Amino acid sequence: MTRVKIDTSRFKSDFDSLATIGATNDGGVHRPALGPDHLKARQWFTQRAQRDGLTVNVDSAGNHSAVLLFPEAEKALLLGSHLDSVPYGGKYDGALGVVAALEVLSAIKASGRSLGVNLEAVDFTDEEGTLVGALGSEAMAGELTPERLCNLRCSREEFVEALKRGDLKEESLFQARRNPDTLAGYLELHIEQGPWLHDNRIDIGVVTSIVGSRSFRISFNGRPDHAGTTPMTNRADAGLGACAFNLALNDIVVKQFHDCVATVGGMEFKPGAFNIIPGQASLCLEFRSRDKDSLEKLKAGVINLANDVARHRGLDVSLEEVAVWDPVHMSPDIQRIINTSASNLGLSTASIASAAGHDAQSFAPIIPTGMIFIPSIGGISHSPQEFSKWRDCVNGAKVLLNATLAAAESLRG
Ligand code: GLV
Ligand code: MN
Ligand code: MN
Repeated sequence: MTRVKIDTSRFKSDFDSLATIGATNDGGVHRPALGPDHLKARQWFTQRAQRDGLTVNVDSAGNHSAVLLFPEAEKALLLGSHLDSVPYGGKYDGALGVVAALEVLSAIKASGRSLGVNLEAVDFTDEEGTLVGALGSEAMAGELTPERLCNLRCSREEFVEALKRGDLKEESLFQARRNPDTLAGYLELHIEQGPWLHDNRIDIGVVTSIVGSRSFRISFNGRPDHAGTTPMTNRADAGLGACAFNLALNDIVVKQFHDCVATVGGMEFKPGAFNIIPGQASLCLEFRSRDKDSLEKLKAGVINLANDVARHRGLDVSLEEVAVWDPVHMSPDIQRIINTSASNLGLSTASIASAAGHDAQSFAPIIPTGMIFIPSIGGISHSPQEFSKWRDCVNGAKVLLNATLAAAESLRG
């Protein structure tokens, strides 16, 4: 039996070859869930895993698992993240965690070491929520509900097309549920996506919690009319309603909700022409906080504000809640394991709360779950400019490997 070691050149060449799939010419990737390039990335995953003798299973939610089984083991320790990206995103978000998970399995397999838990490196479907959001991990954790599939983040036609491309059936998504008694735990390596670790010169973030979020689709409805002949004082301009709402909400959050962030990430005017006053303006709103009470208070504030703006501008408004993710805590035992694994490698650590959502959120309520963060330069993410130093990526993979070995020891069932 040899020592278990990350093969840094294999890890780098895998990361670089994955980053060519859906690559954009500004250094990022465009791999929306179940789009052609995400499916190509999944083919890459399968070939990469099989190259090192790992078996690949695909469940009814499309989650791809590379599996390493051991004779004494009963439960599975999941190591995961996602190969889909936000539209025109960066090449580290999700991909780093999946490539590192594959590397950990290859390294342990090559060492000949036998563990007390089976290992699975998983690429979860639609973490980024171009379709539903954390679709694959929620399905596997048994948290996906039929209601979630009624409140899509895309149109129903786009969802149906995406499932068809991925060879998935809507009614079968729920069958991806795994009995929590068969799962030992969940570990995920990810870039921080914020500036804190880099600014504070910390090598490894030990994640304590993940923010909750609420998202809404809000529609202001007014009167489409002639942009030249309608006096400025006699308009029901839905576009102005949406803009007034966005500005006022920003003000409210900055002044009154210090532990929240809120973003209008999309706005669409209809009919949408130079010479027509918008009759309808719809916007996508998301807000997040580590505190569930703050989310509920801000939700009430959003509803009041939307109604006030509509009344003031002679518009109608409708609000549709699209997704609800509550804040979750990471397992204290796994946090200790990550901390020790990093310290044993001579790396500095700090506890950190995640302001981004992750597949770990789906597993935290049901099995011991933990996350390892590495620094993001400038904190930039969901952008082609997302960047982490390769040395930090390798540190993250080494911590993931050591944490996997330690968790396998402590979580064997
Ligand atoms: C996922 O990256 C999210 O936080 O939206
Ligand atoms: Mn991610
Ligand atoms: Mn992301």
